[in-house]
Amino acid sequence: MIKAAVLGYGTVGSGVVEVIDTNAKQIQAKLGEELTVKYILDLRDFPGDKHEEQVVHDFGLVLEDDEITVICETMGGVEPAYTFSKKALLKGKSVCTSNKELVAAHGPELIRIAKENNCSYLFEASCGGGIPVIRTMMEALASEQMDSLLGILNGTTNYILTKMDREGADFDEVLKEAQQKGYAEKNPAADIEGHDVCRKIAILSSLMTGKYVKYEDIYTEGISKITAEDFKYAKELGMAIKLVAMSRQEKDSFYAMVSPFLVPADHPLYAVNDVFNAIFIHSNMLGDSMYYGRGAGKLPTASAVVADMVECACNAGRNIAVRISEEKAQVSDCSQMVRSFFVRTTSSADAVEKVFGKVEYVASKVDGELAFVTGKMSEEAFDAVSAQVALVSRIRLLEA
Ligand code: HSE
Repeated sequence: MIKAAVLGYGTVGSGVVEVIDTNAKQIQAKLGEELTVKYILDLRDFPGDKHEEQVVHDFGLVLEDDEITVICETMGGVEPAYTFSKKALLKGKSVCTSNKELVAAHGPELIRIAKENNCSYLFEASCGGGIPVIRTMMEALASEQMDSLLGILNGTTNYILTKMDREGADFDEVLKEAQQKGYAEKNPAADIEGHDVCRKIAILSSLMTGKYVKYEDIYTEGISKITAEDFKYAKELGMAIKLVAMSRQEKDSFYAMVSPFLVPADHPLYAVNDVFNAIFIHSNMLGDSMYYGRGAGKLPTASAVVADMVECACNAGRNIAVRISEEKAQVSDCSQMVRSFFVRTTSSADAVEKVFGKVEYVASKVDGELAFVTGKMSEEAFDAVSAQVALVSRIRLLEA
């Protein structure tokens, strides 16, 4: 029998216990033995809960119990999750997590400690919820050189943008709904301002490059400035507005960015709606491939954590290699990235054409403003010329 501990009995942690209960037979068939949860560590008590007897408050109990070989860390946040994970790995206990904040901040160090102590540190659920993208990148794409990754990596914001698009719904009302459904982070800014996506793309970029891509180096813009008028223009253009994370390896430069983008109808990310996430990868032999599924929510996320726990149990006493070194990746300045921009301005067509040259106008949806799409230009050039007109807003365009 494999005995596990769950740290944090919140949305995902309780989902992990539910998945282990519900799919006990399937898990046993894969493992050849039973997987049981011996401890559930939480600050709270859960009177009346089916598992109330397993609830403990002292991490020392888990750490000192030699029967515990696999730990699920679903506490969220950096501390005390970091300290607990490190102590467990130093004792040779494998740790599986959905905690993107911790993986983005300390993942490479925890991966090394796991290797040194013949156990594993796995984090499938940290990116894309239930989508098995990390294992795919580590195993199925092991012989590939990945050079570009585009992702819709946040269920909450995708849910909000989809509802705003379809129903003209109010931002705050839709956010509340997403929170009730268990998609959103406790602090809504983490979703809305792109911080959650920033951590996820940092983790995926680290897997793509094999080096430590620090989230602090990634330019990040959220969706809080996107308005109902922007959606009217998007419809006119036949495009969707999505919060897109990207990382791209060019000759001598590696770029990473998080920002709202106008996505053309013929792009595979256009049809990714509601809480669904997708990761679109280009690699040198395979070409394009896309991975799609539920990016947030209790059971999809928990399912990915339990899959990691089963993998660790199958590899007891051995390290499952994760190829991310502690060497820091050089992230190039996004100002040199080239693309078209959608622009809304209250300046005249003469003023626009004087600084932007030839542009493609879009039928105006608001009295007194002009809307247009620029030709291709660098971010730096755009910032320089757009300062010369009265800008209402601008949204980047994703290439088809
Ligand atoms: N708040 C996150 C999201 C949860 O909405 O995608 C999953 O990481």
